[in-house]
Amino acid sequence: MALREIRTEGDPVLTKVSKPVKELTPRIEELIDDMFETMYEHDGAGLAAPQVGILRQLVVIDVGDGNQYVLINPEIIEQSGEVTDYEGCLSVPGMRGKVKRAEKVTVKALNEEFEPIAIAAEGLLARCIQHEVDHLHGKLYTELVEGELQNLEDIEDLEEDEDSIHGDT
Ligand code: NI
Repeated sequence: MALREIRTEGDPVLTKVSKPVKELTPRIEELIDDMFETMYEHDGAGLAAPQVGILRQLVVIDVGDGNQYVLINPEIIEQSGEVTDYEGCLSVPGMRGKVKRAEKVTVKALNEEFEPIAIAAEGLLARCIQHEVDHLHGKLYTELVEGELQNLEDIEDLEEDEDSIHGDT
């Protein structure tokens, strides 16, 4: 396993569309391991392959619910409700902004064994899935922020509920 360099806003790779993963090769397996290691190193809750410079449809997520999700070629097939909350991104370090997302989503994908799965998600997991799938389409949450992008330190002075503002994705 190895840490990968996280690309930050302004890097053109973050605005490009990722290609599907066609087969589970040792290289992809290594990338999955590296992405988890890199995400944990930066206290992240999710990471998409373009954030480490690889334009493939691959996402890892750990929102602290006891699961390590690997989503290969993910596609959101259902969504409902609306909820606005703070969001952050490892590619936009130190910042937060409020983003409106679907409250619940169902995503279909392939898992780390390249088996088809479907996950019905809500809460932070649903938010994270939408954020990561956006990365695969070359879209950053900063495009969706309502109001101003804020400095994390400024928000922490103001907000009681810190749960929602930790865990960049
Ligand atoms: Ni992100």
